[in-house]
Amino acid sequence: MFSIDFHRPHHSFNQLQKRFGNIFSLQNCWTNLVVLNGYKTVKEALVHKSEDFADRPDFPIYEHMGYGKNSEGLIIARYGHAWKELRRFTLSTLRNFGMGKKSLEERVVEEAGFLCSAIKSQEGKPFDTHVLLNNAVCNIICSIVFGDRFDYGDETFKKLSQLFQNSFNEETGFLPQLLNVVPILVRVPGVPQKVFRAQKELVDFIDGVLDKHVKSWDPAYTRDLTDVFLKEMEKGKAAEENGFHYSNLRLVATDLFVAGSETTSTTLRWALLYMLLHPEIQSKVQAEIDKVIGRERPPTMKDQASLPYTNAVIHEVQRYGDILPIGLPHLTYRDTELQGFFIPKGTTIITNLSSVLKDKTVWEKPNQFYPEHFLDAKGQFVKPEAFLPFSAGRRACLGEQLARMELFLFFTTLLQKFTFVLPEDQPRPREDSHFALTNSPHPYLLRALPR
Ligand code: HEM
Repeated sequence: MFSIDFHRPHHSFNQLQKRFGNIFSLQNCWTNLVVLNGYKTVKEALVHKSEDFADRPDFPIYEHMGYGKNSEGLIIARYGHAWKELRRFTLSTLRNFGMGKKSLEERVVEEAGFLCSAIKSQEGKPFDTHVLLNNAVCNIICSIVFGDRFDYGDETFKKLSQLFQNSFNEETGFLPQLLNVVPILVRVPGVPQKVFRAQKELVDFIDGVLDKHVKSWDPAYTRDLTDVFLKEMEKGKAAEENGFHYSNLRLVATDLFVAGSETTSTTLRWALLYMLLHPEIQSKVQAEIDKVIGRERPPTMKDQASLPYTNAVIHEVQRYGDILPIGLPHLTYRDTELQGFFIPKGTTIITNLSSVLKDKTVWEKPNQFYPEHFLDAKGQFVKPEAFLPFSAGRRACLGEQLARMELFLFFTTLLQKFTFVLPEDQPRPREDSHFALTNSPHPYLLRALPR
């Protein structure tokens, strides 16, 4: 445990990989961890032996939020019937999202418009994009879960946004790790409230909004995912056994916010940072957007195929930004074997996604921002198989389609409307990251000049 720097675990794993190879084990108190490194190894485990690696370890540190046996939500649910049902339900609800008045794509396009207005109101002065990007992305999840967006100035919304930020920060460092492996400490009265105050507040907050929503529910109409879930719950005992009960509704809602907000907005913050640091790449993206879409018409997903360079830049932001460097922990579902190593059932597995996205055997310039990784000799978009920021296999990111749509629509709309520049009196922003479950950029200021 002491050989890992919990503030930058992927760096420690990369060092250990050099000494011990692509598969090595660590002892975290009395828990055995196996760390998988490099594209070949991670793919073999997650794709070729998908079910063997599909389980999740127990996370006693989240019990105070209501996670536990029979109410596990999506992200940390054990591999089994309830997880399968909830995952299938959530995926199909996201897919059929046209059920309300507007499709998900229309909502993202609309939100991109609100985001641009908010950026325009900064009048070209230096500002930090963090809050505005969070607001835009968080509103997409609000729209899915609660059927509506919030104004950026709304006090409730500001609180929600702040709680997310704080709850992510509570996840990192030595203490949460210790509490996970010595769960008895979490049960000491007052400990979770002290260590995970924001997480508790976040769930209480979501409870409050859901409660209002349930009271105003009319089964004749479907406003959002919550309503579809409530309809499932109405089906009675069988549905309840499949995981459709109120405790899971609040956890599924929480999971979508936790998994779907910070990840996407952090990626967008990296994207704008790289545009500041590489103005020539920014100009090329803008030239392509001008040529294909022009300056007025809002971008749509249909444009993606005609914007290979822009698409390559977005993919390179995800590769180089490396925002979930160690993904989420897995657990072996049965005894298994990987490249000659026996791994017993119930072993915690860490997939070092960072080592895949920067695997020297796959990427031409792994440690440089180089959009050409995603372009062929004719300038057409190509996606190398080692592009795994969303992980792979049964537990791969459930929101991948939505995230890709948001990244594409927000990024192209922003670059269509603004040129992003460094304020003259500011030092060059840092390119290294701050790790708190996600790798995020250090705070930086930019100026957004209307085009
Ligand atoms: C899981 C990446 C956005 C929902 C994951 C995992 C990764 C990931 C690496 C772990 C997979 C594993 O355990 O092997 C990302 C990235 C995003 C993003 C890079 C944005 C750029 C989203 C969005 C949503 C979402 C927008 C929801 C609407 C989920 C859920 C899981 C998950 C529910 C858990 C899946 C399961 O355990 O079955 N994501 N994600 N993610 N993600 Fe995302």
